[in-house]
Amino acid sequence: ELPNTLTLANITHNTDSHTNIPRTLLPYLTRNLHLTKNHPISNTRLIIESLFPPSTYARYNTLPPVVTVAQNFDCLGFPQDHVGRSRSDTYYVNKYTVLRTHTSAHQAEKFRTLEKEGRSGYLISADVYRRDAIDRSHYPVFHQMEGAKLFDRRGRSSAEVVDEVLKDLEGMEQPNVEVVESCPLFEEEGNPVQTEKGHSREEAEAVGKHLQRQLELMVSKVFSEAALAAGDAAAAKEKVKVRWVSAYFPFTSPSYELEVLWNGEWLEVLGCGVIRQDLLDYAGRKESIGWAFGLGLERIAMLMYGIPDIRLFWSGDERFTNQFKEGVAKRFEAFSKYPQCFKDVAFWLGEGRGAGAAGGSGVVGGEEFHENDFMELVRGIGGDLVEDVKLIDQFTHPKTGRKSMCYRINYRSLERTLTNEEVDELQAKVRSQLEEKMGVQLR
Ligand code: PHE
Repeated sequence: ELPNTLTLANITHNTDSHTNIPRTLLPYLTRNLHLTKNHPISNTRLIIESLFPPSTYARYNTLPPVVTVAQNFDCLGFPQDHVGRSRSDTYYVNKYTVLRTHTSAHQAEKFRTLEKEGRSGYLISADVYRRDAIDRSHYPVFHQMEGAKLFDRRGRSSAEVVDEVLKDLEGMEQPNVEVVESCPLFEEEGNPVQTEKGHSREEAEAVGKHLQRQLELMVSKVFSEAALAAGDAAAAKEKVKVRWVSAYFPFTSPSYELEVLWNGEWLEVLGCGVIRQDLLDYAGRKESIGWAFGLGLERIAMLMYGIPDIRLFWSGDERFTNQFKEGVAKRFEAFSKYPQCFKDVAFWLGEGRGAGAAGGSGVVGGEEFHENDFMELVRGIGGDLVEDVKLIDQFTHPKTGRKSMCYRINYRSLERTLTNEEVDELQAKVRSQLEEKMGVQLR
């Protein structure tokens, strides 16, 4: 069934037993929402870019999405058994090549060439791909922006590096945020988070502060923009409440997440940290120290414009696309919602080696059941007519040890009312493909 080759972005790749890219995904590789004029993803990118001077930060916005496993995982220090590498999480072109799962895939190559371009930092915006659940905030394609900044340590003492970083920091604007909570920049004893080998604690701390200041500025700008979009000039002047939480990424240490209080909820908006020194060494930047961050543009655009469903970004419906203009802050106005239609599907997994984690694994004809495979099967049939899919029940038969799953599929178009006939037809296809392709037994 699989073709022997796959042509992506004009390059033909051999396929193999690792290949798991469905045909339905291919059109997304050329959409470039982040570069589409007036599109909210592009507008959000421009707002964030405007906070990073181009004389310091090179822009890379057209890097192709097909990268090697080495770029996406190995050289970033992902352990061999990291879940992110699994075929149930990542789209493989073949054993050695993937659709990038994050913009960090380009870190090493850009660190290597940055200096030649006379820059000490960069911003990368791009489409990224992950196999995931179906709901209003997840989509197998989304957009990330990644930023990084390096400081030169050549011929400088640690104290001189600290001075330079702090001087740069003093020149920066004060962000209009209230830091409600902050994990220590460096954790004390007993915590695995440590300063990188070869970094003095003072240097790494200065770089960490620089990073946090830059990102607080970004967030305060984005959220005052959001308040303006909502027509609330007073709120635009209020301090945004943020908190810094310690985190883990294989390629930064220490690592942090920035969360923002929005409508009474703490929302994670980005991950960041001090770049691991071995990564810089590998990229020929032994004598630099620096920071990096990565954020999801959809997440920020949804907050900023009040966009309730991630599928809307991909919709060609003019009632959506005509609402946005570059440089104009205006909140999204919902257009009428069409009715939902729920359909349940229940099935038995194969002979049980017992139940796995919730929604996770079970055994299907000797092979594991992965929820993301089921999600993709549903997307392949229903496309954007599926709003979300939820696991509503699972149990293990006490005698046979077999596991039963029941999922509820919510069919709803953003653009029209679906007929009963067409939903029934989609659901019948889901049922038959489930049996054929996933080898489960329908109930
Ligand atoms: N690449 C990380 C992610 O996708 C985000 C990140 C980027 C974290 C850069 C640290 C530094 O989750």
